[in-house]
Amino acid sequence: MFMNEFSGSLGFQFAAHINLRFGAGAVNALPAEILAMGANRVMIVTDPGVHRAGLTNGLLDGLKKQGIAVEIFSDVESNPRDTTIHAGAERAAAFGPDLFIGFGGGSAMDAAKGIALLMSNGGSIGDYDGTDKVKKDLPYLIAIPTTAGTGSEVTANAALTNSATNSKMSVRSPRLMPKMAVVDPLLLASLPKSMASTAGLDALSHAIEGFLSLRASVLSDVFALESIRLIGRHLRPFVANPGNVEAASGMALGSTLAGFVISNTGTGNDHAIARALGGLFDTPHGLATGVLLAHVMRFNAPARPERFVRIAEALGLSTEGNESVVAERVCDAIERLVKDVGVPTHLAEIDVDRGRIPELVAIALKNVGPNPRRTSEADMKALIEAAFGSEAPIL
Ligand SMILES: [Fe+2]
Repeated sequence: MFMNEFSGSLGFQFAAHINLRFGAGAVNALPAEILAMGANRVMIVTDPGVHRAGLTNGLLDGLKKQGIAVEIFSDVESNPRDTTIHAGAERAAAFGPDLFIGFGGGSAMDAAKGIALLMSNGGSIGDYDGTDKVKKDLPYLIAIPTTAGTGSEVTANAALTNSATNSKMSVRSPRLMPKMAVVDPLLLASLPKSMASTAGLDALSHAIEGFLSLRASVLSDVFALESIRLIGRHLRPFVANPGNVEAASGMALGSTLAGFVISNTGTGNDHAIARALGGLFDTPHGLATGVLLAHVMRFNAPARPERFVRIAEALGLSTEGNESVVAERVCDAIERLVKDVGVPTHLAEIDVDRGRIPELVAIALKNVGPNPRRTSEADMKALIEAAFGSEAPIL
């Protein structure tokens, strides 16, 4: 049945550029493939932690052995700023790469998209904030994730920060989609526990918000349900030991599949509130989405209860009882998962200010997107207060 049972629509859109190299050691084959493509000047965009940890060493050595000139730009911070993109673009203009590699978490991959964009389109990155403002194709861009989280290796957008206003920019264009994604679970082995858990919960949030989205389709559902199944099964052992190749492979695949999902479905209230927290308090994205996930699911359950039965199946939970009973079971299981991987389940436990709930509400309401349950100002306030926890709210 090609129908979105929520809207009753018989049609849907699903776009994906799938050119994926997946598996333990996949990155090792890349230098020869890059040479075969005819590229001979490669710029790697990464962050200082990934670079210092030596994760880029194998790729660097391989490229040099093939006689390929390499420039490394390793100044990307988390929540990358426009100023960083401009500094990277200057380096690119001086070096003249014919191929870019974004190597790292979502920040490094998004920065690579921004730098490659400026190389072919010029101007400043703020000019491209919004949808479909990129007029020329980017140079060949390969994305190599070192977290199992953002899915940025297969998405057509870059989240960057406007340093003048401290607000988030979202550059969205099909031209930003990396031409190739190389997903190598061995690159996840040295992830710190907090990154493994929060990035993994971000990926789970992508799969669940995409599955519940008003824009979900029969195709995005295939990716979303498999992603939920993989992450539900592998997140705990992966956080316990990211060097567990089977668990890391499950997480890496789950997060990439979830990237295909949100590229098509968008995200809902979890990401709307997480973006507000990121803007006001610099709360790390994965931490915010993880803390909020079960709360947002409880809020959304009445809108698409039948979908919670399918989530229960993907998570291996019992589907006994009516839809609302199953939905409650699913939300409880997600909350348990969040706790089990060491992530707080209430905003009161992290560094955010309850007194600024009105600002959070105002910002989040602008980003509700295709959230399945219509969300009024009062709903959003109640949802955020519930996420803060039991302490009496400041009015
Ligand atoms: Fe996310």
